[in-house]
Amino acid sequence: MTAFEIVSREDFSDVTYLLEVRHPLMARAARPGQFVIVMLHEHGERIPLTIADFDRAKGTITLVIQAVGKTTREMQQACRVGTSLHGLAGPMGVPTPIGHAKKVICVGGGLGVAPIFPQARGHKEAGAKVIAVLGFRSRDLVFWEDKFRAACDDLILCTNDGSAGMRGFVTDGIRVALEGHRDVDEVVAIGPPVMMKACAEATRPHGIKTTVSVNPIMVDGTGMCGGCRIKVGNQVKFACVDGPDFDGHQVDFDDLMTRLGRYRDQERAAQERWAGSCRMTREVGPSALDAVVSRGTPQAELLELPDPYDEVQGG
Ligand SMILES: Cc1cc2nc3c(=O)[nH]c(=O)nc-3n(C[C@H](O)[C@H](O)[C@H](O)COP(=O)(O)OP(=O)(O)OC[C@H]3O[C@@H](n4cnc5c(N)ncnc54)[C@H](O)[C@@H]3O)c2cc1C
Ligand code: FES
Repeated sequence: MTAFEIVSREDFSDVTYLLEVRHPLMARAARPGQFVIVMLHEHGERIPLTIADFDRAKGTITLVIQAVGKTTREMQQACRVGTSLHGLAGPMGVPTPIGHAKKVICVGGGLGVAPIFPQARGHKEAGAKVIAVLGFRSRDLVFWEDKFRAACDDLILCTNDGSAGMRGFVTDGIRVALEGHRDVDEVVAIGPPVMMKACAEATRPHGIKTTVSVNPIMVDGTGMCGGCRIKVGNQVKFACVDGPDFDGHQVDFDDLMTRLGRYRDQERAAQERWAGSCRMTREVGPSALDAVVSRGTPQAELLELPDPYDEVQGG
């Protein structure tokens, strides 16, 4: 048995995959709403991933990952059952407050369906009535429907094309849920920023407390670098230590979306470099990739990241 060993893997689609990782201490400590920082290999980038599930008896945590760029694609190729992650730090972030609400709507959009699961289960275990609203583009992308049906009192499944459940977005699902349940205490929404913004706008006229889990770019995950700062009301917060859950009616989503796109050129360059080295590996054998890795090229150099401290001063 090795540290951080991958004990199971499931592929939900061409780009979305699940890894169940052995880490008994993490499984014992994890609470809904928390995340980990993962390093695939010694020279790998540190990326934040939400703990989508934990099993204290088995001593494992579950991550659900979308391959969007260099590291998540590299993990998609490299992480097989029996292999190990190089590093796994956490659990990080403030656990979601649970136990105060009697009726909760848990909304997950696309990949956000995975991180909303521990929150839905947590609210249910605390005695709340839980309605899940899950949104996907189409039937072939749907995952964990059965898991949610088992953990929640009601499930509203939405697809953009109507190929499963009702046709529409999660905001349509929220509307249906609110028509059927006038006494909802809280809505929790996780998904792309544009979706969480729409959910917050859907609940604002009803005055229902709405919690979202934000995903700014994180570097250290300890509140030191300021990379993950977001605007909440008239305050600046660091998502890694103050969140990632915040009041959705207060979050400045436009600022969050602008900041998320800030390193797009560097991210594209890193991905192209990595894809190029994969091609070299296929064409001239593994020694080409080994050479890149063994030179120990630091990740910051690979990504040509601007100094994060640049940004902190301005607030
Ligand atoms: C608290 C938190 C929880 C997250 N949970 C999940 C999860 O459960 N599953 C999942 O698939 N993704 C999750 N993410 C997003 C994930 O961290 C990024 O998709 C990943 O870092 C992208 O790295 P890359 O090299 O593959 O792509 P890149 O090409 O480097 O980036 C692609 C996009 O990912 C985002 N991103 C890049 N680097 C970071 C970073 N260091 N921190 C945050 N976002 C970044 C940016 O929006 C960027 O445009 C989470 C992010 C945060 C902040
Ligand atoms: S990642 Fe939050 S302060 Fe650095």
